[in-house]
Amino acid sequence: MENKKIRIALTKGRLENKTVDLLDKIGYDVSELRDKGRRLILTIPDEDIEVVLAKAADVITYVEHGVCDIGVVGKDTIMEYGGKFYEITDLGFGRCKFALAGKKGDDFYSGYGVKTVATKYPNVTRTYFEAKGMDVDIVKIEGSVELAPLVSLADGIVDIVETGTTLKENGLEVFEDVAPISARLIVNTVSMKLKQERIAKIVKQIEENL
Ligand code: PRP
Repeated sequence: MENKKIRIALTKGRLENKTVDLLDKIGYDVSELRDKGRRLILTIPDEDIEVVLAKAADVITYVEHGVCDIGVVGKDTIMEYGGKFYEITDLGFGRCKFALAGKKGDDFYSGYGVKTVATKYPNVTRTYFEAKGMDVDIVKIEGSVELAPLVSLADGIVDIVETGTTLKENGLEVFEDVAPISARLIVNTVSMKLKQERIAKIVKQIEENL
């Protein structure tokens, strides 16, 4: 007998509303999710589905450890943290990109010195410049990375660009696109086998409502 209870980890914040809208569109009762207060575990009545809300990187951790069967997380987080899980579906929302950016008019590649790049995503940045065969110094920043080139901490940044407003309002511009980003559906590798039927049904419902 298949253990039917399914736990889904949702990324709090930017992706949250769009994910709840998607679950709503499927026909699930998302009233708890819409009116959650400070609660972190919500149920979808009648479906035997529990939803937990977590920070992006933690969604991967919960799915990897098998305490959540399914996760919704951005490709940015998957690229930075990796992990052992199945990446099943591109959900198509939460679209933005990783870009290399810096002060408007600067030529990032000019000169011979090693360039300094500030980022919240050191692994993505390392992989990108390694592929180019270019040695760079990477400085990890926790937020508002756009500040780094403005105060001359870095020659450039690798960061998420959505509308481009943050760059524009700070006199910065995209030098190069690094990678496209969107929300992805991920599934724990063991759940995929042990709860195959239930997960296949949910994935199908999600894909049909994108
Ligand atoms: C992200 C990113 C940029 C901004 C881009 O930051 O790091 O700062 O959004 O969006 P835009 O192109 O539409 O202006 P986020 O708000 O996630 O927070 P952070 O500054 O803490 O990284």
